[in-house]
Amino acid sequence: MSGGFPYKTFRREVLGVDLLVPTTRGIRVPYIHFDNAASTPALKPVMEQMQEFLTWYSGVHRGTGHKSMLCSQIYEQCHTQIGHFVQADLEHDTVILVKNTTEAINKLAGRLRFSADDVVITSEMEHHSNDLPWRRHARVVYTRVDEKGLLDYKHLEKLLQQYYPHVKLVTITGASNVTGHLNDLDFIARLAHEYNAEFMVDAAQLAPHHAINMHPHYDSRHIDYLAFSGHKIYAPFGSGVLIGSKKTFLQGEPDIIGGGTVNMVTPNLITWAGLPDREEAGSPNVMGAFILAKTLEYLQSLNLHSMAAYEKKLTDYAMQRLQTIPGITIYGAEPRLGVISFNLEDIIHNQLGIMLSFEAGIGVRSGCFCAQHYVRKLLDEKNPSSLSYTSAYAMDNLPGMVRISLAAYNTHDEIDRLISVLKQIADHPYYYRKKYPYSCIHGNYYPRDKNLQNWPYHFTESF
Ligand code: ALA
Repeated sequence: MSGGFPYKTFRREVLGVDLLVPTTRGIRVPYIHFDNAASTPALKPVMEQMQEFLTWYSGVHRGTGHKSMLCSQIYEQCHTQIGHFVQADLEHDTVILVKNTTEAINKLAGRLRFSADDVVITSEMEHHSNDLPWRRHARVVYTRVDEKGLLDYKHLEKLLQQYYPHVKLVTITGASNVTGHLNDLDFIARLAHEYNAEFMVDAAQLAPHHAINMHPHYDSRHIDYLAFSGHKIYAPFGSGVLIGSKKTFLQGEPDIIGGGTVNMVTPNLITWAGLPDREEAGSPNVMGAFILAKTLEYLQSLNLHSMAAYEKKLTDYAMQRLQTIPGITIYGAEPRLGVISFNLEDIIHNQLGIMLSFEAGIGVRSGCFCAQHYVRKLLDEKNPSSLSYTSAYAMDNLPGMVRISLAAYNTHDEIDRLISVLKQIADHPYYYRKKYPYSCIHGNYYPRDKNLQNWPYHFTESF
């Protein structure tokens, strides 16, 4: 069932796959991480490389010592490696290292120098990070999603026509963090460019699961700006990426200024450094950059296409098995990544999330996933009488969904374990609801079990 991808070997290289976690049955079970859309674990071979490199750790671009020289060179190489991972044209594009996708989009929104009439088109499918930063700087309009939660391409074109020539940017997620839905990036790029707008992709969810090609600048499929996070692609050490045209970042002043951003300073004059330095103020996160670049190198060595094919098999299997659960509603439609959100009749999403954790050691996310607009649309579509977000909600009754998100080290057996516990819960909803009441102390649903009341606090003492 691997489709040629060495998932067993890969799984052995993933940290934390052999963790044991407590259950209400009084036994510990192997932890299943089905929350990869939030963050992925780190990789052992990269951690080994990090240990070795750490002995050479020093400041970047700030010393004449051997350690500093080595770190500076490696840090620069990391930018190139990261750019190559998404086939960026490094003659015209710069790779700027930031904390995460959110910071990348905020930075770009601040650097695009919008004027009063400028319009940014995003969509109803976006994570808040590809919506709120734009609101601060431009007029934002939203491409609709249809009743299945898919992007309405006709509406996108209508918006491009309606707001022409004021649309400066079309910014769309590569894959939804709620439904995993994959957007047709080539099509959107062509459309945006036809109307003279630039195209940005929020690749936070896409980059860890699919090969990305930014295409050359002359190509109508060119992605003008791309952002993704290290912590979602097995490199959780505080590095994220923004890639885009050098021209954009050479205009005007950098958004954050200070150490490392200048060539010369007098009381009356500043000359800015070249790229990417002028956009990376302060001492850079060289370890984060190193780990991200090495992780990408490692993933490429596994073959990203066969990795995606394995994840697709896993996703199809999960979809097929989930549909057998009585009372389940699954949101979104194909084509999708291994991100699947659902609800179970008679069980609140947060309660179900906690049940999966304490019944079977399965880690998921529940709620709105920082994408309230989209989640609301999907919920309203399935159940038009559901409460809208404008109503006041009690904290124990917020609308939302349960999300599983798979990655290339997850297995079919793990999905079977999920299905088995979901079946049990679906068959006995009232029993499980009683077992997991709302706890004001934990601010969430929690098992009544006395032995678990202090989890994970007693455990954290050992750190
Ligand atoms: N954006 C991340 C998620 O969807 C944190 O879980």
